[in-house]
Amino acid sequence: TRVGVFFGGISVEHEVSVISGLQAIHAMDADRYEAIPIYISKDRTWYTGEKLTDIEAYKDLKALLSEATPVIPVAADNGGIVLQKNPAPRFGKREVSQIDVAFPVLHGTFGEDGGLQGLFELMNIPYVGCDVGASALGMDKVTMKQVLRNEKLPVLNDVWFYNREWQEDSASIVKQIEEEIGLPAIVKPANLGSSVGIGVARNQESLEIAIEEALEYASKLIVEPLITDLKEMNCSVLGDTDEAEASVIEEVLKTEDILSYADKYQGSSRGGSKGGSGSKSMGGGMESTDRIIPAPIPDEETEQIQTLAVSTFKALGCGGVSRIDFMKDEANDIIYVNEINTIPGSLSFYLWEAADKDFQTLTNDLIQLALK
Ligand code: DAL
Ligand code: MG
Repeated sequence: TRVGVFFGGISVEHEVSVISGLQAIHAMDADRYEAIPIYISKDRTWYTGEKLTDIEAYKDLKALLSEATPVIPVAADNGGIVLQKNPAPRFGKREVSQIDVAFPVLHGTFGEDGGLQGLFELMNIPYVGCDVGASALGMDKVTMKQVLRNEKLPVLNDVWFYNREWQEDSASIVKQIEEEIGLPAIVKPANLGSSVGIGVARNQESLEIAIEEALEYASKLIVEPLITDLKEMNCSVLGDTDEAEASVIEEVLKTEDILSYADKYQGSSRGGSKGGSGSKSMGGGMESTDRIIPAPIPDEETEQIQTLAVSTFKALGCGGVSRIDFMKDEANDIIYVNEINTIPGSLSFYLWEAADKDFQTLTNDLIQLALK
């Protein structure tokens, strides 16, 4: 089976996706699957070629791409996608390779939000992970929470609005936030991952600043109460709407109110990554936030989070592997579903390894789910 692994992409999470994508390629069982790398550059060109599987080669992207082959996808007669040279050569072979199943490992806009999935639908190729609807639902924190709230799953209150509404009448939005949410509050773009554009507001002035800043990234914002005594825990779910299982739980350690983009992906030097419970890095030459796997919490809490994670996955109609991020308000002992990542960083392999499913088995399960 020829598996086209898509990574890179146009979102701010491009670099993270290169790491996740190459990790997936190297994890796949080479006896069963032929992994075909498809790198999507920030200017939306698609490339393929052997060298694209070498993480070191990305240090000199220009040199790497001069050796790679730009391609466009064409629907194949017998199903799947044919990758053709772009521009088409006047003489000689056009066809570069064919893929039978698509494996998107992109994060954020266009890759994780249903955009690319829509293209796969149009081309009639089976693909790993969430379909168009679940991807789009999961990407928008507002619509995601509306669905979950409707299913009686625990989510924080919020106020949301569009840029236009803010420009027209910021005073009444501020008033609504103060009345319904209160301060301190947290301001987030509705549809971006990796903590991009997130800000904390402790008074009216900083609320307005946080909103103005977030509006530089997105035209739809969501404001929630800030949990001051916060514990963040994540759980991955694998399967589909028929059958889904939960991984072990990780506790994400942090120093500030929120995890910043730098915290998540540029590595933090807080140390303490040894010890019995063993916090892990996402590997691939990238340091990451410290995590404790499994989270040192009572069994009942583990089960509670796992049940909520599976219910969230099913309520949104997910497939493949997702990671559901939770927030625990320690002062009030309440656990909330915070967000879902329908294509999580590193495909959450480290949470499955801890549950005795190695990365190769995880990629195999994902491909088989796509072909089901
Ligand atoms: N959006 C990133 C990759 C994550 O949270 O896993
Ligand atoms: Mg995210």
